[in-house]
Amino acid sequence: MAEQKLTLSVIKADVGGFVGHSWVHPDLIKEAQRKMDEAKKKRLLIDAQVLNCGDDIELIMTHNKGIDNSDIHELAWNSFVASTEVAKKLKMYGAGQDLLADAFSGNIKGMGPGVAEMEFFERRSEPVIVFMADKCSPGAWNLPVFRMFADPFCSPGLVIDIGMHQGFDFEVVDVYESKIITLHCPDEMYELLMFIGAHEKYMITKVTRHTDGEIACAASTQKLSLIAGKYVGKDDPVLVVRAQSGFPAVGEILEPFSFPHTVAGWTRGSHHGPLMPVAFKNATPSRLDGPPRVICAGYQLANGKLIGPRDMFDDPIFDYTRKQACEAAEYFRRHGPFEPHRLPLEEMEYTTMPQIMEKLKSRFIAMKDKKETAKKPKKVAVNSHSKSGEMEID
Ligand code: 13P
Ligand code: 13P
Ligand code: MG
Ligand code: MG
Repeated sequence: MAEQKLTLSVIKADVGGFVGHSWVHPDLIKEAQRKMDEAKKKRLLIDAQVLNCGDDIELIMTHNKGIDNSDIHELAWNSFVASTEVAKKLKMYGAGQDLLADAFSGNIKGMGPGVAEMEFFERRSEPVIVFMADKCSPGAWNLPVFRMFADPFCSPGLVIDIGMHQGFDFEVVDVYESKIITLHCPDEMYELLMFIGAHEKYMITKVTRHTDGEIACAASTQKLSLIAGKYVGKDDPVLVVRAQSGFPAVGEILEPFSFPHTVAGWTRGSHHGPLMPVAFKNATPSRLDGPPRVICAGYQLANGKLIGPRDMFDDPIFDYTRKQACEAAEYFRRHGPFEPHRLPLEEMEYTTMPQIMEKLKSRFIAMKDKKETAKKPKKVAVNSHSKSGEMEID
C-alpha cells in the first residue's frame, strides 16, 4: 500500500458545444489536455486525462493534494477558461456555458463546474470506475448508486462478501436547502429511499463503507440553475466508484445501468427521458438533443497513474438496454409538451413560463369573481308565452 494518500478528482464543465449541444470539438479537448500536461510537468498532478460525454469536458486527475484543494480547482478552472477561448474562436455553441463566475475564487464548487473527488490509500490493486453523463441532472445517480451499494438483487457481493455485510453509509444532500444527512444501509434503507426517490431534491453525494468509513463513491451534485438563478444548461454530472475487495465488483457497479431509468434533462433541460448507457463514440445526443447518455471509463490505478480508460459500456450486452432506451424515448416523445415528458412546472427551467405568466396574469379571473360578473339570468314570467311559443322573458 502506498505511503501517501492519493486523490482522484473528476471535474467537468460544458464550455461550448459542437454542433449545438451534441459534442465537444477536438481542439477544446486538446487545449484542456495541454493544461493537464503542463500541470503534470510541474508535478501538481501525477496523471490526468481529458474525456468528453456529449458537450461536456471531463478532467480526470490524480494528485496528492487532497479534496477541495484550491491549486487543483484553480488548474481545472484555468483549463476550462483556456478551452473556452478556443471555443470562442471556433464560435462553438454556448462558449463558456458552465463558467458562472468572472474569476476563480478558492473553490470551483459553486462556480458552475461539477466536482466528484475522493482521497484514499491506493490498494494493492485499485480498480476505479468513472461515470459521465450528458443531458441530465445529478439526481440521475441516485437509483444506480443505491442499487450497487444496497440492493442484493443487483450486487450479490452484499450477500457473498462478508466484508460488505455491515453495509454502507449514504450521504445525501438536500440541494434546495443545502442540508446533509447520512443514512446507513441496510438499517435505514426505507428512510433513505423515501428521500432519494425524490431525486431532484435529495441527491447522494458520497458513500462510505460502514465498518471503517472508507470512501467508496463520490458524485457531483452541483445544480447550475441553483447557482445561476436561471437555466443555463443541464448539470450533466460525474460519478466515481471504487471497485472490488470490500466494495462492489466492477460488474456490480455497471449492473444498475442495464436498466435505462428515467432522468430529468434531455432537451432544454426540461424533459424526462431514459438514461442510455453508450460507448464513448456514441455519447452524441441527437434526437431532440438526447436521449440522455452515460459513458463509463474504467481504470486500474498504479501509483497514481491512470491505466486506462477502458470503454466499459462498449459491450453488446448493453445493446438490449439501449433498445429499451430507444423504446422509452419514443414513448416519452409521444407526450410532446405534456407532463410527465415535460418536467413539472416548478422544475421548468429553460422556459418562458414566467414571462408568459407576466403577460397573461391580468387575464386570470378568480373563480368566485367570475360567478359574480357572469350575466344574471333574466327573470322568466311564469305562465306567459311568446308568440313563438317559448317562455316569455320580462
Ligand atoms: P474470474 O474468475 O474471471 O477472476 O472472476 C472472478 C469474479 O469474482 C467475477 O465477478
Ligand atoms: P447541455 O446542458 O448539455 O448544454 O444541454 C442543454 C440543452 O438545452 C439541450 O437541449
Ligand atoms: Mg451545452
Ligand atoms: Mg451537456
